Amino acid sequence: SPAPELAGLRVLISAGPTYEDIDPVRYVGNRSSGKMGYALAAAAARLGASVVLVSGPVHLATPAGVERIDVRSAAQMRQAVLGALPADIYIGAAAVSDYTPRQVAPQKLKKNADSQSLVVELVRTPDILAEVATQTQALKLVVGFAAETHDVEKYARGKLVDKRLDLVIANQVGQGTGGFESDDNAATAYWQDGEQVFPATSKIELAGQLLALIAQRLKA
Ligand code: PMT
Repeated sequence: SPAPELAGLRVLISAGPTYEDIDPVRYVGNRSSGKMGYALAAAAARLGASVVLVSGPVHLATPAGVERIDVRSAAQMRQAVLGALPADIYIGAAAVSDYTPRQVAPQKLKKNADSQSLVVELVRTPDILAEVATQTQALKLVVGFAAETHDVEKYARGKLVDKRLDLVIANQVGQGTGGFESDDNAATAYWQDGEQVFPATSKIELAGQLLALIAQRLKA
């Protein structure tokens, strides 16, 4: 039988949310379950790739044959991703927090008797995907996700160009099924001179279809 599609390639995947600590007991997070990224890791391993999965905090088992690195914050995810390079393919499926508290309080913040509000100042996190895309060493394909509530194609194509990606997988979030937390998802993939629609199906099935497209784009 022929060699599997991704044999001999190293595939680096980010998955899950990041948690940005406010104090020892509270954080800023998001609804990502990690299911999409873990399904991609499992599919890439099945296609013969050597897979490294950098994972935010999730409740999922590590897929067979996958090397997993656990992280918590965006800063830790950036370090782990850059540390796992070089890779042939990077897939950014993680929902990396765009903002993190300017400082982590060393002790639990106490309610202030004089005030009904609390202001936590947030600062931008580094854009891991954009940084990976500037690393030319060995990388053959850089794939980003775009989670959008509206104007999906406009924002997805914007990310393709601005972050210099080879492929963007756009999924609609914030309405109906699919996107965050769900077992199912639908997506549209955009590249410079094409696009492909993936109708709603299980994330496991979708991951296989997306990896087939990735293998095809690799040859293009
Ligand atoms: O985990 P699940 O519950 O299965 O849900 C799957 C998913 C909806 C989280 C996934 O399919 C998805 O869309 N992941 C990307 C979510 C996201 O943060 O999208 P974004 O449009 O904000 O970011 C665009 C891209 O930049 C993503 O590839 C993201 O990983 C990357 N990014 C963003 C910010 C940042 N600081 N660093 C990054 O690398």
